Amino acid sequence: MKRLLSLSALLLLVCCSAPKSDMDRFIDDLMSRMTLDQKIGQLNLHSAPGFVSAERVTEEDENTKMLRAGLMGGVYGSGNFDVLKRSQEIALESGAGIPLIFGMDVIHGYETVFPIPLAMSTSWDMEKIEKAARIAAGEASAVGINWVFSPMVDICRDARWGRIAESAGEDPYLGGEVAKAYVYGYQGHDDVFDTDEVMACVKHYALYGAAEGGRDYNSVFLSRQEAMNGYMIPYREAAKAGAGSYMSSFNEFEGIPATMNKWLMDDVLRKMWGFDGFIVSDATAVVEEVAHGIGDLQEVSARSLQAGLDMDMNSDGFVGTLKKSLEEGRIKEADIDRACCRILEAKYKLGLFDDPFRYLDEGRRAERVFTPENRAFARELAGECQVLLKNDGVLPLKPGTRVAVVGPLADNASAMMGTWAMSSRRDETVTVRKGLEERTRTLYSEGSWIFKDKDLEESVRYGLMRMFMRNFQASDVHSVPQEAMIADAVNKARLSDVVIACVGELSEMNGEGSSRSDVTITDAQRELLRALKATGKPVVLVLFTGRPLVLVDEDRDMDAILNVMALGTEGGRAVADVLFGDVNPSGKLTSSYPRSVGQLPLYYNHKNTGRPHGEYDSYRKFVSCYMDEVNGPLYPFGYGLSYTTYDYSAPRLSASEMPLNGSVDVTVTVSNTGTRDGDEIVQLYIHDIYATSTRPVKELRAFRKVHIPAGDSAEVNFTLTADDLKYYNHDLEYVCEPGDFEIMVGPNSRDVQTVLLTVK
Ligand code: BGC
Repeated sequence: MKRLLSLSALLLLVCCSAPKSDMDRFIDDLMSRMTLDQKIGQLNLHSAPGFVSAERVTEEDENTKMLRAGLMGGVYGSGNFDVLKRSQEIALESGAGIPLIFGMDVIHGYETVFPIPLAMSTSWDMEKIEKAARIAAGEASAVGINWVFSPMVDICRDARWGRIAESAGEDPYLGGEVAKAYVYGYQGHDDVFDTDEVMACVKHYALYGAAEGGRDYNSVFLSRQEAMNGYMIPYREAAKAGAGSYMSSFNEFEGIPATMNKWLMDDVLRKMWGFDGFIVSDATAVVEEVAHGIGDLQEVSARSLQAGLDMDMNSDGFVGTLKKSLEEGRIKEADIDRACCRILEAKYKLGLFDDPFRYLDEGRRAERVFTPENRAFARELAGECQVLLKNDGVLPLKPGTRVAVVGPLADNASAMMGTWAMSSRRDETVTVRKGLEERTRTLYSEGSWIFKDKDLEESVRYGLMRMFMRNFQASDVHSVPQEAMIADAVNKARLSDVVIACVGELSEMNGEGSSRSDVTITDAQRELLRALKATGKPVVLVLFTGRPLVLVDEDRDMDAILNVMALGTEGGRAVADVLFGDVNPSGKLTSSYPRSVGQLPLYYNHKNTGRPHGEYDSYRKFVSCYMDEVNGPLYPFGYGLSYTTYDYSAPRLSASEMPLNGSVDVTVTVSNTGTRDGDEIVQLYIHDIYATSTRPVKELRAFRKVHIPAGDSAEVNFTLTADDLKYYNHDLEYVCEPGDFEIMVGPNSRDVQTVLLTVK
């Protein structure tokens, strides 16, 4: 929170930080003057008027009509200052005159775009993730937005699910740390919302990342215990950090859609974890419960409200049917009051009752948005979000190297932005081509199509536009023959010292509704890579992706692989920083990279089974493995190379026994044995050898990112208590069970050294 600058700011702060009873009194009084329709109106969320064009508010727009009738609690999807201001004016003129809350999918930055969340998580740098969220909040709030649909904290173990791009990967502990960093970044560390802070909306609650087969929106089949230990931790941590709101997810759990799942929303989130904010549905999730097979819109709306949902996004289920349900005795007025009260509380906390235009201050836009400082930070962060997967020694490049920068993603701003970057400034995005041109002699070639199948490429590239723009015609797909594109790339490769091949996924190939059954680099791009390899020039694969990919051929054939995913506004410069060695890569994977799709789901923290098979051992009958696939990932969770090398000592314990109420120190010496300074991410895993329920073979429970100058060593210390060894037992009690634990420390989840700790 900033210093108080003026009396009005002081008054605002006093008001916003007022004890809850003041808020309760205010809201009780307000609600006593509201009609039933006005209360139900607060439970309704729609996109802002003029959503697609986001240009202006017209009286004919259906959403304007709803605003006029006082039937909206908030609007979302617009960062247009005039639209938001006009919408607020209409809301205040209508009905009870209650200010709107303004939501937006601000996922990894606003106009200054940061790496996609999956890439951001590979930095393992919680301070920088928090700062990125803080900058995003500052930019978004400067145009009027006060509620962001982030963080997305869904755990995902299946690379086929495209939305892994929006998450922090597969690990619950890391996911929890990342969740807190986002919440603190958006909301600050106390209960007061300053005008450059916004309310977080944690999504998608819950278990959405466990969609069966990685197919988006698909059902989830998990036990409660597996859910609590493997997937729920990040949602819990976000609640602990004080997140103001949650978004319910599309999937079902235990046969009940999450959006009407009382166990998830009421029993766990509110009662077990003490969350006291409001829950909004995902877009159209209420009406989708009809397709799930629960009942008609009236039935599913009533059940969702009673299960703990407060706001309905886009379904018109609450606004259209709750009154009837009340008249028929299907629900009680108290159900509506409860939800309305939670939404009004959020508005109160945001200070909107003091000043509904509090966030709408045109002056701040120029000061806060897309500033040189924000861009400089985007470049710095993007430097930390690249994972070096392979390096035969070609990297870092020497100054003066002549570079052929090729591939369909080399000069593609949208691929650099990644999924969910609606507010980005595409024209000012630095592509890899641009980043390299700024620093060395380069030749550029687009090199290939994405898919050999033209129809597929067209629908992947333009599917979304076709949905919104009738008569949309795509003209450029496959307009140049693939052979000619490859020939041009090969010529340019021959004229250069090294090839930088930018291939992988278009931003449209991951994110929502973008599941893939084949998670390899696409056929057309692989053809390009083969042709480049055949030139005999060293080839560095700069990999764009929003998910773990199968890279077996590339690992064999490429001279180096730098996984950059989608790095945002300053991505191209940040890639050049790493390629030329100004930045020593330090990112480590937060999801396991499979060898084949048949291995999925794949995650390091799996159970042992009764018939375990060693990782990387060859096939044996009657143990848990595939006949035709190695038992283990290509690149494990936590893996990433550097331009230097590190040596780890065995971990040492301050005591080999720890009482349940005590603590123990784990120390490891990490030496930088190379010639460059570096940042190393040191990881600590535990294994509860015998427990009353089976436990994973390894679980991350701590990590540190340490800077170690070349030739130097660092003593890295972790203090463990019983809290770090807890899990949800079969009765869903969060416990540490005394006994022996393996404590493992290493540079990734595979290459660890172990020491035994006994908890008494
Ligand atoms: C997505 C959410 C998003 C919402 C609003 C949905 O389709 O699942 O992540 O916040 O739309 O745009």
